[in-house]
Amino acid sequence: MPTAAANIGVVGLAVMGSNLARNLASREGNTVAIFNRSYEKTQGVLDAHPEAGFIPAATYQEFADALQKPRTAIIMVKAGAGTDAVIDELVKVFEPGDIIVDGGNAYFPDTIRREKAVRATGINFVGAGISGGEEGALTGPSIMPGGSDESWVTLGPILRSIAAIAEGEPCVTHVGHDGAGHFVKMVHNGIEYADMQLIAEAYDLIRRGTGKNPAEIAEIFAEWNKGELESYLIEITAEVLRQVDASTGAPLVDVILDQAGAKGTGAWTVQTALSLGVPVSGIAEATFARSLSSHPEQRVVAGALPGPGEEFTVPADQVDAFIEDVRLALYASKIVAYSQGFDEIRAGAAEYGWNIELGAISKIWRGGCIIRAQFLNRIADAYAETPDLPVLMAASYFAEAIGRAQAAWRRVVVAAAQAGIPAPAFSSSLSYYDGIRADRLPAALVQGQRDFFGAHTYKRIDKPGTFHTQWSGDRTEIEAVDTH
Ligand code: 6PG
Repeated sequence: MPTAAANIGVVGLAVMGSNLARNLASREGNTVAIFNRSYEKTQGVLDAHPEAGFIPAATYQEFADALQKPRTAIIMVKAGAGTDAVIDELVKVFEPGDIIVDGGNAYFPDTIRREKAVRATGINFVGAGISGGEEGALTGPSIMPGGSDESWVTLGPILRSIAAIAEGEPCVTHVGHDGAGHFVKMVHNGIEYADMQLIAEAYDLIRRGTGKNPAEIAEIFAEWNKGELESYLIEITAEVLRQVDASTGAPLVDVILDQAGAKGTGAWTVQTALSLGVPVSGIAEATFARSLSSHPEQRVVAGALPGPGEEFTVPADQVDAFIEDVRLALYASKIVAYSQGFDEIRAGAAEYGWNIELGAISKIWRGGCIIRAQFLNRIADAYAETPDLPVLMAASYFAEAIGRAQAAWRRVVVAAAQAGIPAPAFSSSLSYYDGIRADRLPAALVQGQRDFFGAHTYKRIDKPGTFHTQWSGDRTEIEAVDTH
């Protein structure tokens, strides 16, 4: 029987799991036990990384015996039934006070359910969102743990030891109880979808409007990455656009099938937002754009539908100005996407009783994660100044930035519509902006229609109470019981 020499264990040694285990092992003070369903993989990781000093376990019992108390294990398996299977096994060999962490992309209601079930055994269960892909897992991810305060006492220092560092601070915070961490990771991914779609729309407009090739557009993105748009996603966009396909000599982006995949976290973000009544239109359009792209049978038929019939060509002397307009439209739309994402986190926190500090979330996203960006510092500033900010983009810094960008943003959306180029995330973000800032919305008419066909009642601007017009009678108004 191995001695209890490890302070942390990892279950699941696919790339994310083994990289996280190696990251843990590389930090002073950590000794890492590892376990995988097939021991072959454990042996492989052990052989490939002797420097890590891993303690291998062939059974769950051995794994538990290798861990100091309170035993702490991070599960790194594909989210779903596999997670439940591992939890069931760990619960059998762990004791009250021990900590089971799920580091996968679990759906937060599953995390809430699992936390409740595991807590009943006296063991702590922590759902932790981990962002940064394979590279981040190895060198420093952004980590979003939920779970109990008790578990955070042990887990906090361990997670701080492996997280990315942004401006001297580790990119990890105790987000909130039970499913809060996975909820925040879900919204992170939703914002990731929106950011990626916005970048893709910017690329498409520039390419189709100016005729520049991918390598030339890569240089534009590299330039943008030196300014207010500086971010990991802009940086990798330049890398992808620069890549030449070895077998054809064509830009790689031109030989990749234009059907975007999705593993579901974007859809969860939108589904949850719909339930919470939070308009995350940018994230929704980004998610739908992937769905639209992935229906070749429809696209081939719809390809015969008429477009505007004119070539879209930006005159040579206006190319630089057009590119700058696209940059500003991207920045403004990005502000909307983040503003909507933070709205969803706030609404989720209220619904599920989590005490989530929005400024702390923006800080832990500054490094390690896929949406890391310079811009997140400004979000942190905005929440530091006004913690209960009703809408992020109304904070002075963002209001000023959008004010600066809005004329360009409108020109870009008009140009896209006239040219017949889809820009769903740009245009829906602009519509959201115009909607949220509107003095009066046509929602009044919708209320009138609802009252007409379903006696759903309405409120008036000039007096309290709830009213109904007797549409099928003499059309006089009566005070009514509020049915919304
Ligand atoms: C991260 C990523 C990661 C994963 C996405 C991809 O934060 O490290 O978000 O979790 O790459 O789930 O999602 P799609 O396959 O849905 O694009």
